[in-house]
Amino acid sequence: MSFDRSIKIAPSILSADFADFGREIQAIEAQGADWVHVDVMDGHSVPNLTFGPPAGKAFRPHVKTVMDVHLMIAPVDPYIAAFAEAGADIITAHLEAGPHIHRTLQAIRDAEPKAGLALNPGTPVEAAAPLLDLCDLVCVMTVNPGFGGQKFIETQLAQIVRLREMIGDRPIHIEVDGGVDPTTAPRVAAAGADVLVAGSAVFRGGSVTNSDDYGLNIQSIRDAASNSVQANAA
Ligand code: DX5
Ligand code: ZN
Repeated sequence: MSFDRSIKIAPSILSADFADFGREIQAIEAQGADWVHVDVMDGHSVPNLTFGPPAGKAFRPHVKTVMDVHLMIAPVDPYIAAFAEAGADIITAHLEAGPHIHRTLQAIRDAEPKAGLALNPGTPVEAAAPLLDLCDLVCVMTVNPGFGGQKFIETQLAQIVRLREMIGDRPIHIEVDGGVDPTTAPRVAAAGADVLVAGSAVFRGGSVTNSDDYGLNIQSIRDAASNSVQANAA
């Protein structure tokens, strides 16, 4: 995976049909998804429960792009090897998951997926400064994690701008997760994000048998984001 700061759309399968993940993943990729975002929740770090490593392993053969695994779990370290073996290309852990996030990021790199660091809305991005050289991606949460379909937290835009300045030329993606749709996408892209996670705004109105809407939704998020990046560069 070579580094590329162009806009990437990462649909979250949290908004997919839970009885049909294989076909849902195939459908979003056929309709233009750049990455597939997998939200892992433990019912403890966040008030919801989703997938363990066996689910990730079952998704893997369907994912032809990038399997982007967002761990909202604590502790994290005991599960890194299992998610790496399940085929995650990127494993993202939360800074808030425990006192040893530095060790966690090292452990992800040792297990060989790319390493991501996620920050909840209550965490200042400056907390990521000592960790950036261990990161391939920083995920700025623009909702409080746990559920799809929540309202975008506007004050996070300033945090994305600050993070973009902190990163400078380093090959680190800025991912934004929560409430991304064609209205908020231009603002997060202009602030400096390049990976846009979107759940409800991608899956809205479509299904595996009617997946054209997924494509239209992905395209409208991408167009809105790309236009704002071009307008900013001009
Ligand atoms: C939130 C998850 C997100 C979520 C995004 O806890 O990490 O990935 O599914 O969903 P939307 O795009 O609907 O806000
Ligand atoms: Zn997520």
